[in-house]
Amino acid sequence: MPLRNTSTRWGSVAQALHWIIAALIIVQFVLGLVADELPLGLQKLAMLARHKSVGITILGLAVIRLAWRLANPVPELPSTMRPYERFLAHVTHGAMYLLLFALPLTGWMMSSARNFPVSWFNLVQLPDLVGPDEALYETLNQTHEILAWTLAAVVVLHVAAALKHHFVVKDDVLRRMLPFTQTR
Ligand code: HEM
Ligand code: HEM
Repeated sequence: MPLRNTSTRWGSVAQALHWIIAALIIVQFVLGLVADELPLGLQKLAMLARHKSVGITILGLAVIRLAWRLANPVPELPSTMRPYERFLAHVTHGAMYLLLFALPLTGWMMSSARNFPVSWFNLVQLPDLVGPDEALYETLNQTHEILAWTLAAVVVLHVAAALKHHFVVKDDVLRRMLPFTQTR
């Protein structure tokens, strides 16, 4: 399968980035929600450290993904889609890209505001984005949570649309994002 996108199919790099990020988002929700339930202690800090490292990985992959998208053709939407469906597809895709940046950045800023430095799997120490600030921490904490649930809601819509394309409309939209598939 070609590495690069064509006007009708996502290439293997775009597909790999899409599915790796999707899997990491699920891991990220599990880590974040489990950490949130734990009492303050070593276990919570270890879970949060993993959450932060995976989140920074998502940020890095989102940068690569956006750069790859800008350097590649984007497969056209099927001509059978109505204008409002095209509009919805663009809005949900745009929102997901925005959230893939906004979530890690609010998380990183929140950690800096709480004076907890962020490291990437204990290998790379990242700089603080803001100075210690309890009020800012509270605001960012709430923003991070709202953004996380917004992403969950948009992803539910996105998955419903992908399944509708495949099982109801029966076009190539899901197949062209999947490896080892034939498109018409
Ligand atoms: C796409 C990336 C991310 C997603 C989807 C995500 C999602 C979440 C979720 C669902 C929670 C639990 C929310 C709650 O109920 O309070 C959470 C908490 C948290 N996240 Fe993230 N997060 C991401 C990236 C990051 C990053 C990169 C950092 C830091 C570098 C971070 C730091 C935190 C912290 C410190 C908490 C716990 C807040 C508390 O103590 O209540 N997150 N995140
Ligand atoms: C957290 C999970 C997910 C995120 C953040 C996400 C994000 C995205 C984004 C941003 C795009 C637009 C690609 C672009 O224009 O560059 C996209 C495309 C796509 N996604 Fe997802 N996705 C997720 C999960 C899923 C799942 C579970 C499915 C299938 C059931 C799916 C199916 C698709 C398909 C078929 C496309 C291609 C649409 C087209 O060809 O126009 N995605 N996804």
